[in-house]
Amino acid sequence: MRSEQWPWSAVVEETMRWNGAVNQFPMRYPLEDIEIDGTAIKKGEAILSSFGSAGRDPAQHGYDADEFDIRRRQAGHLGFGHGPHFCVGVHLARLQLETALAGFFSRFPNASLATPEQQEWKPTPVPSFVSNSLEYLPVLLGPAAAPDLPSR
Ligand code: HEM
Repeated sequence: MRSEQWPWSAVVEETMRWNGAVNQFPMRYPLEDIEIDGTAIKKGEAILSSFGSAGRDPAQHGYDADEFDIRRRQAGHLGFGHGPHFCVGVHLARLQLETALAGFFSRFPNASLATPEQQEWKPTPVPSFVSNSLEYLPVLLGPAAAPDLPSR
């Protein structure tokens, strides 16, 4: 959907909810015995926070939580963490993502994902259970539009 009806910020937020860059975060240890939703966790036990899983929680995001839909009303995702360690760079990250997407698609308005037959390299996940990204994402750029140069 490239109708320009929805801002790039909606794409960024939905991406961070649906398949954000930080999938899980290790090295969390409770300072006292706690219970979360019926599960007892003892003081000092290692916890893996799954920000990615929280983004697909139907109780938070509705029955269609598994669907990528930039039109949804965002209900609060954990793509940039939560609480005292909430991402310090969140504003810069959002600005970079929106700027990069807008710049890329204004230069290559017809860019599309390569089909499996067109792919020299396959989309390959970076082998990590913490970060969530691809080593390769083959795309067809299509004709380039005139660059959007700043006026003097
Ligand atoms: C898409 C880009 C980014 C994503 C997905 C992201 C995600 C996160 C997440 C999930 C956390 C919380 C980690 C935790 O729970 O301990 C975090 C923390 C942090 N982020 Fe980011 N981040 C991004 C970009 C940036 C940028 C651009 C900067 C700096 C310029 C930055 C600096 C930090 C710092 C310093 C922390 C630690 C905060 C603390 O522990 O108090 N991040 N980030």
